[in-house]
Amino acid sequence: MNQDEKKRLVAEAALDYVPDGCIVGVGTGSTANFFIDALGARRDRLRGAVASSEASAARLRALGIPLFDLNEVDELPVYVDGADETTRERALIKGGGGALTREKIVAAASKTFVCVVDDSKLVAQLGRFPLPVEVIPLARALVARQLTALGGRPVLREGFITDNGNEILDVHGLAISAPADLETTINQLTGVVTNGLFARRPADVLLMATDRGVVRG
Ligand code: A5P
Repeated sequence: MNQDEKKRLVAEAALDYVPDGCIVGVGTGSTANFFIDALGARRDRLRGAVASSEASAARLRALGIPLFDLNEVDELPVYVDGADETTRERALIKGGGGALTREKIVAAASKTFVCVVDDSKLVAQLGRFPLPVEVIPLARALVARQLTALGGRPVLREGFITDNGNEILDVHGLAISAPADLETTINQLTGVVTNGLFARRPADVLLMATDRGVVRG
């Protein structure tokens, strides 16, 4: 099975977690896109969706799925999204697509976060994938110096502006042995909007596509 086949398989498996008649939280990225396409095939059983990015909103809209602003709804029953890395404890690095802040907000508003990955994303320790940090542009250099002091090597994501009008620093070389602590430390740096560690609130369910099918972690 190639990686795209695995992404499609695991995205379709996440449909089992979407109650009929609900508003579903929808993530961003290539695996989330397969999930959106699967939702499109059963849109009559959905009330609608809250998207974590403009890109996902456009894809949902094109499939005729009603979109809601998060401020219009109460708790969402489920949020489905991919990840760039995951541990077996379901701590994640997200934000390769740059949507980390809205993803973290929609995940926080959801009862159950179902993370959908192929097995290439599983790691023993987070940090091989550079950690995305969304920053207010004015604070880019200030935050970069502090990330360097924490042992990382921040690199500005050239030519990229987030849906919130901010910039991304991709931080290389971090050995992330305590992801929840590092998530807090980085989020407390003045000028940081949020960082791509999802460890204080990890995924609740991890669905992982392997050559033997989808396994739940
Ligand atoms: C988007 O900002 C990211 O958090 C994605 O969810 C993550 O990068 C996974 O993307 P893929 O499914 O494309 O690997």
